[in-house]
Amino acid sequence: MHDDLFSHLTSIPAEPLVPGAYLLRGFVGQQDHQLLRELQQILAQAPWRHMQTPGGLTMSVAMSNCGKLGWVSDRRGYRYASADPLSSLPWPKMPPSFDALAQSAAAIAGFDKFKPDACLINRYASGTKLSLHQDKDERDFAQPIVSVSLGLSAIFLFGGLNRSDPVLRTELAHGDVVVWGGPSRLRYHGIAPLKPGEHPLTGRVRINLTFRAAG
Ligand code: SIN
Ligand code: FE2
Repeated sequence: MHDDLFSHLTSIPAEPLVPGAYLLRGFVGQQDHQLLRELQQILAQAPWRHMQTPGGLTMSVAMSNCGKLGWVSDRRGYRYASADPLSSLPWPKMPPSFDALAQSAAAIAGFDKFKPDACLINRYASGTKLSLHQDKDERDFAQPIVSVSLGLSAIFLFGGLNRSDPVLRTELAHGDVVVWGGPSRLRYHGIAPLKPGEHPLTGRVRINLTFRAAG
């Protein structure tokens, strides 16, 4: 059904990172403009915000969500919520193009039943980092994580199942997609402090879309 949109994919190899994790370089291709247009509409309803950690710190990554569920953090902890705490309205719907992109990336990585119901949207400005963490607030760890990078490049930190395990560093550029699941699903991961720069489509920031089957 999406053959037209994804016809460039036959030329894009899935680079295995570690068992269960794949890097699909340039997977977004010419869909980048459309994704960013849809993103603007999402942000008009659910604007960027800096959430509080349970410990009371303000996160340096600005966030929003789309989909049935959105990831939120505040003094009460981390969780998924069906409403945006800023507006009390449901999160904006996940655009079909987001869903299709995430599903086809997952399928190429061998996860062919992925149905994301949550898309966390992260914005990194110069100097912003995301400390090593596990994605473990989702219900079903049989479902992978699909992460889409747009704008400025960043160094992705991909560790092991223990926080102290060695960390692989790989650059994620505009249009790259990482899928991790199976034996890699609970690996620690993060983003090194973003280097300053300017990208023609996003300006001075990196944007990441993280798709999850959360509920
Ligand atoms: C995340 O782990 O939520 C985001 C990772 C990234 O920005 O690439
Ligand atoms: Fe994460």
